[in-house]
Amino acid sequence: MSTDPKTLPGADPHTGNREIDPVTGYDTTGHDWGGIKELNTPFPKVALVALVLTVIYSVIAWILLPAWPLGREYTRGILGLDQQEMAERRLRDLVALREDWLGRFENPDFTALSEDADLMAIAMPAADRLYQDNCSACHGRAGSGGPGYPVLHDTYWLWGGAPEDIAMTLQVGINAAHPDTRWAQMPAFDWMEDDELSKLSDYVAAMPSGEADPDSEASTLFAENCVACHSEGGAGGLMNGAPSLVDDAVIYGQDTESVMATLRNGRQGVMPYWSERVSDAEINALSLYVSRLPDDGAADGAETVQASDESPAEATQ
Ligand code: HEC
Ligand code: HEC
Repeated sequence: MSTDPKTLPGADPHTGNREIDPVTGYDTTGHDWGGIKELNTPFPKVALVALVLTVIYSVIAWILLPAWPLGREYTRGILGLDQQEMAERRLRDLVALREDWLGRFENPDFTALSEDADLMAIAMPAADRLYQDNCSACHGRAGSGGPGYPVLHDTYWLWGGAPEDIAMTLQVGINAAHPDTRWAQMPAFDWMEDDELSKLSDYVAAMPSGEADPDSEASTLFAENCVACHSEGGAGGLMNGAPSLVDDAVIYGQDTESVMATLRNGRQGVMPYWSERVSDAEINALSLYVSRLPDDGAADGAETVQASDESPAEATQ
């Protein structure tokens, strides 16, 4: 097959301009860069159509939507859409919705509130976010506590686990800077003899299993020094922040060594107060949330006392 362009149909036999490219069949523009020739390819129709459509679209968009800047103003378009205004409106709706349900927590009747399933479906997820933001760092994401931080999902309470009690704890804190804070101090018994401390520690460590000997010297020491705060037999429940020493729940640990450390140094855990950081309604929602944290089926807001056989608080330090 001949590749001489001058012999191909349509080519100028003298100048060689407007040759037909033998491969594509297009004519060339006649430009020649050292043997490389430019095809005279037509502009694709699809692109032309697309271009026309986009121009038409943009003209319509200028008419309907905000488009051209005019100094301080801009053309607003006949639809009058404004994304900022739309965002603000949506935010206002959200806030209104929140105030709608949150308002009901301002002066709460906790029983009535917790029976309102629709309300709980909105309020508890919101309270969970509040809890995760403010409380989980110390008390754990599910309220499972840790050494020094009490478990919140069990049925053992220092200050009561009814929503009202929890709300009070949150309002004023424990050993916190609030003037009405709940005050709780485990004094140091560093003045005791070493062997007394050691016997007492063994005794206290044996209390939860009921193996502490009531006729021992340690028992007398306990009655003389500890009962005032920890109650008869160490049962706790005096609402003074001193925990029961006979149940499974522990804050710092109730093995001999932890008790020894508690006795030598004393303890004074600090729970911050929240009345200046979150609203009363939020505190109440949080309190209801904490009182309902599931403890293997334990009741809502169960008061103080006893006996879940499986307490995750059994942290040994
Ligand atoms: C800086 C750590 C810290 C943060 C944050 C914190 N707490 Fe506490 N919380 C404590 C400590 C420590 C105690 C125990 C104080 C003590 O030893 O007497 C406590 C005690 C409590 C108690 C009393 C438990 C009982 O048995 O009566 C409740 C209820 C409680 N916290 C709920 C919350 C909630 C809800 C939040 C979030 C709004 C929160 N805490 C945030 C450290 C914290
Ligand atoms: C003035 C009241 C008071 C007296 C007296 C007292 N305690 Fe306490 N005790 C507390 C308080 C309050 C706490 C909780 C401290 C905290 O949470 O920071 C506590 C905590 C403890 C704990 C830690 C429990 C845990 O769960 O980790 C042990 C153990 C303990 N006391 C043993 C004793 C013994 C033994 C005596 C007697 C020698 C005694 N306490 C006397 C108030 C007292």
